[in-house]
Amino acid sequence: MLKVEETQPVEFSSALLAKFDEIVKRYPEGKQKSALLPLLHLVQAEYGWTSVPAMDKVAEYLKIQSIEVYEVASFYTMYFLQPKGKYVLEVCRTGPCCLVGAEKIMDHIEQKLGVKEGEVTADGLFSWRGVECLAACGFGPVLQIGPEYTFYENLTEQSVDQLIDDLRKK
Ligand code: FES
Repeated sequence: MLKVEETQPVEFSSALLAKFDEIVKRYPEGKQKSALLPLLHLVQAEYGWTSVPAMDKVAEYLKIQSIEVYEVASFYTMYFLQPKGKYVLEVCRTGPCCLVGAEKIMDHIEQKLGVKEGEVTADGLFSWRGVECLAACGFGPVLQIGPEYTFYENLTEQSVDQLIDDLRKK
């Protein structure tokens, strides 16, 4: 996977641009901005995250303002605006999960991985963050792991350790 630093300009490959073209064709003339979400997904799949230069390039491609891309990318949490690990542990930090120990689980993950929220482990495998309700409130604490968004419920420190160890072995 390509890695792009924040300040480096981005040049999209012809293969990626061909995918862009194919998606944009699905929308009526003049409504190319409607393709923004799938285009950002493609960019993130290619680069691992959604950098400012990449968003600027998408804006240029769609002939819209960069701010229009930033607004969308910063609204939806599935777009990562900074580098992320291969596995992102997203822990629900909403009230019901906090009542059953979500904060303790996040502290534990921070200790276990040795990185703070949003940082990436040295091996590039893991990052983690707190997120809002994952709609499994009766089974907290809960976390999900993208990109497949597998759910893990009723978390304990031991089950989190096991989960991380299993992912490391993959
Ligand atoms: Fe955690 Fe809803 S409050 S899943």
